[in-house]
Amino acid sequence: MSGPRKALQGLTAPLKERLIQEALQRRMRKTELERSAPVRQAPFERSEHSDSIPDSWCRFDMHPDYQQLRILNEGAEKLGVSNPFFRVHEGCAGATTLIGAETFTNFSSYNYLGLAGHPDVNAAAKAAIDRYGTSASASRLVSGERPIHRELEQALAAVHGVDDCVVFVSGHATNVSTIGHLFGPKDLIVHDALIGSQLSGARRMPFAHNDWEALDQLLTQCRLQYERVLIVIEGLYSMDGDVPDLPQFVEIKRRHRAFLMVDEAHSLGVLGRGGGGIQEHFGLRGADVDIWMGTLSKALASCGGYIAGTSALVEHLKCAAPGFVFSVGMPPSAAASALAALRLMQAEPHRTQMLQTRGRQFLEAARARGLDTGLTMGLSVIPTITHSSLKAARLSEALFRRKINVQPIVYPAVQERSARLRFFMSSEHTEAQIRTTVEALAEETRRL
Ligand SMILES: Cc1ncc(COP(=O)(O)O)c(C=O)c1O
Repeated sequence: MSGPRKALQGLTAPLKERLIQEALQRRMRKTELERSAPVRQAPFERSEHSDSIPDSWCRFDMHPDYQQLRILNEGAEKLGVSNPFFRVHEGCAGATTLIGAETFTNFSSYNYLGLAGHPDVNAAAKAAIDRYGTSASASRLVSGERPIHRELEQALAAVHGVDDCVVFVSGHATNVSTIGHLFGPKDLIVHDALIGSQLSGARRMPFAHNDWEALDQLLTQCRLQYERVLIVIEGLYSMDGDVPDLPQFVEIKRRHRAFLMVDEAHSLGVLGRGGGGIQEHFGLRGADVDIWMGTLSKALASCGGYIAGTSALVEHLKCAAPGFVFSVGMPPSAAASALAALRLMQAEPHRTQMLQTRGRQFLEAARARGLDTGLTMGLSVIPTITHSSLKAARLSEALFRRKINVQPIVYPAVQERSARLRFFMSSEHTEAQIRTTVEALAEETRRL
């Protein structure tokens, strides 16, 4: 037995756990420091020998981000927590899902309206395959264009009440490519603090979550130092399940002559009586927002993302955004399934309304049991905050043993103190499933 393991022998479980966690935190801090160390001048500029190049610059296994991943995985192993990621689901995941040979009540899928797996959506995808084959086989610009692409884009533009729309093969690529293409080094991106990654060469500044007054202040201080300014917010926040006060953001962006982009990934099909998203929720016009972004992978049961807005915006992206121009056209079957799902969402608004009811029921039951559900409005996304990654992983594992599938969200996806379980709701969940789940959740939370 190795040294550290031997040293832990004979200790009480809580003490052992604390020591392991402290050791983990020390190692994590060390890699954090390495990551944030100032960039060294390239050695060749200083005419040094290539021997001076550190291993982490030429070995993937020494990459500081990978090292962090290893530390976390090894820590979880030492603490006896099983890996909740990459579990294989054997069928279509909705309110229930098949993992191995067992059926679980499922709160880990984006299938908000129960349309992934709906017979009409499946039939539309199959018909598109029969007609167009499985691939667009080219970028849309150069021979990949099919009628179904434009049908879907026009239907999405109509949802937002704007001129036009363009679909991309992935939601994430939609954001990266749009922001990366439209904004450069002389521009500023101001974004809600809960929105993560670096998306362009523009300067980036976060403002406190949902705090439009902070945004206003920030723009008052620095708007004039930049050319274009883009404000990025989400229609419904994917980790916290709350909604921004969109009319305030619209007023601010107008006053400061900035662009406003709203990511509707978790809001389309969820907010508004007919699922029209945050725009319907607040009764705003399409033109109040400059860039409507959405994904096809959530309520719309498919894959891909879109940008809707003015003709100029869409034409520009279609002719020049690298993620569109240099990427294959969306598979016709994916476009057809998104369009069929959109039509169902519009024809059957009871799906959105049932999702809202089930979300509210979950939230009320969780609050009644004293669970910390954070800021959520109780719609499609309901977190229960555990304030510790280890607790989140343990809680998820305990619920899994009770045939409830819900993913933990752990550091570094969120701050350690914000670690949580995240429940994705579906219109297909039953009241009984919600009751049983919240009871199990409350019991297991008490045991932690
Ligand atoms: C807010 C938000 N925007 C964009 C995306 C990316 O969408 P996709 O998974 O369809 O690529 C996600 C992913 O879940 C998301 O949560």
